[in-house]
Amino acid sequence: MQFDFTDKRVLVTGGTRGIGRATVEAFLAAGARVAVNGRTAGSTASAIAALGSGDSLVAAPGNVGTVAGCETAVGAALDALGGLDVLVNSAGVGKDGRIEDFDEAAWDETLDVNLKGTFFCIRAALPALRQSKGNIVNLASDAGLMGDGTLTVYSASKGGVVNMTRAMALELAPDIRVNCVCPGYVDTDMVRRDGIEQADDPAAAEQAVIDYAPLKTLGKPSEIASAILYLASEDARFITGSALQIDGGSTAGHST
Ligand SMILES: NC(=O)c1ccc[n+]([C@@H]2O[C@H](COP(=O)([O-])OP(=O)(O)OC[C@H]3O[C@@H](n4cnc5c(N)ncnc54)[C@H](O)[C@@H]3O)[C@@H](O)[C@H]2O)c1
Repeated sequence: MQFDFTDKRVLVTGGTRGIGRATVEAFLAAGARVAVNGRTAGSTASAIAALGSGDSLVAAPGNVGTVAGCETAVGAALDALGGLDVLVNSAGVGKDGRIEDFDEAAWDETLDVNLKGTFFCIRAALPALRQSKGNIVNLASDAGLMGDGTLTVYSASKGGVVNMTRAMALELAPDIRVNCVCPGYVDTDMVRRDGIEQADDPAAAEQAVIDYAPLKTLGKPSEIASAILYLASEDARFITGSALQIDGGSTAGHST
């Protein structure tokens, strides 16, 4: 499906890699002007260069794990784009580990980036989104809809994103739509480099994440990007507060 975002102004946090980067590419292909957020000016500039630079791409660096970083990133996007039509909150961290292995720093990083950062980027973008009657798409997870053992803290953060999306959708209606996507395992650095490749038996770890989805496959970043563009488009005019599962069936229930 090809959407038309000609001259729409979009900010994608965590746009330097993975799902965020695929989302930047999809919005560019649909005619948007896109602000790319990475944690640092250097990582953002490298990503923009790798994406081919061009007038439609601008940098909006900032560590969205802090309120100041959210305001810096959103402020840079607003300055460069002259406003905002769509905010996609894709920056995230996916640390796994048993409860006993999680210390305060790991808890804080997960909640700060995944939940607090999403909230404060939205807060910073609200005046511009009110003006444009724009919309927001958050990256939640299938782990935000059900518990995932060894992902307790991540599940807490993404469950927060799902319910925050619903609450914000109510508060911001009818002017601003707020939705989230809930991917299952998607083939990005978060899953492959930081997960599968760190396992004692990477082949078994890869098979385990493939088998996790009833459809027996990993998602592709571009497939999540397509859903994000749909939710951000006029075709989704009647959708707000939704948590769209794109997970190969992982949240559908149990097979007997
Ligand atoms: N890959 C999956 O299987 C999967 C599944 C469900 C949900 N998600 C969610 O989708 C989003 C994107 O994940 P991904 O798989 O593309 O991960 P990724 O690790 O490939 O990319 C994450 C991006 O977030 C950025 N980021 C992290 N901390 C940041 C910070 N403090 N400030 C600015 N940027 C920061 C990284 O630099 C990177 O660009 C995340 O919110 C993740 O939780 C991913």
